[in-house]
Amino acid sequence: MFDEIAPSYDRLNHLFTARSDIIWRRKIVSELKKKEIKFSNIVDLASGTGDLTLELLKLDPEKICAIDISKKMLELQRLKISDERLELIQAEASSMPFEDESIDLITIGFGVRNFENLNESFTEIHRVLKPGGYLVIIEMFKAEKISSRIFNFYFSKIMPFLGNKLSKSKTAYNYLSDSVQNFLTVPEFTGICIKNGFTLEKSVNNFIGVVNSVYLRKFS
Ligand SMILES: C[S@@+](CC[C@H](N)C(=O)[O-])C[C@H]1O[C@@H](n2cnc3c(N)ncnc32)[C@H](O)[C@@H]1O
Repeated sequence: MFDEIAPSYDRLNHLFTARSDIIWRRKIVSELKKKEIKFSNIVDLASGTGDLTLELLKLDPEKICAIDISKKMLELQRLKISDERLELIQAEASSMPFEDESIDLITIGFGVRNFENLNESFTEIHRVLKPGGYLVIIEMFKAEKISSRIFNFYFSKIMPFLGNKLSKSKTAYNYLSDSVQNFLTVPEFTGICIKNGFTLEKSVNNFIGVVNSVYLRKFS
């Protein structure tokens, strides 16, 4: 499905969020900069066309790996980013080609709710992160409170209709809308992270309790 929507992904993302997605990704990098930690080895997991990868380069890593299962998304990322520190790898979140405890920071931008096996992916993320390493996730979570009717109508009817039309897909944007309604709330999600050996540093509500950034650390 992600191969199918890859060519229109960036354009529609910016359109449906009124370009706020750009600001949300930048905010993650400015938060990480404040920590004054050297993030030498970074993995941007479920990297897609690389919008978050591009921002992460501002942390001045020695190496950054963009992982994704979609070949097409990675091909578009290759056209977008030219930087010798970047390596593109087609791989599954649950099976990453890295040594144990070798990565300082893993980010996942709008990807984790698509992972088929969340627990296996967390075990793998935990394996490759250094003790004390950071895991930062920005995602659309199921809202804890019933969000506004206008937003629900927009998200369940208008966005899938326009998304399918503009991406020329029959169902992809219905799936994307349904996957948010069927995903976890932030407390449910962070509960799973904690069970998998992470501590919650903080979560930031970017937009009406739906778009949140979650900052976690591997328990050292
Ligand atoms: C909505 S896009 C997000 C792209 C980008 N991170 C961003 O911030 O816009 C989700 C990406 O997750 C990838 N993905 C889904 N399941 C995955 C998995 N199990 N392992 C690795 N990548 C996965 C998809 O191929 C897709 O490119």
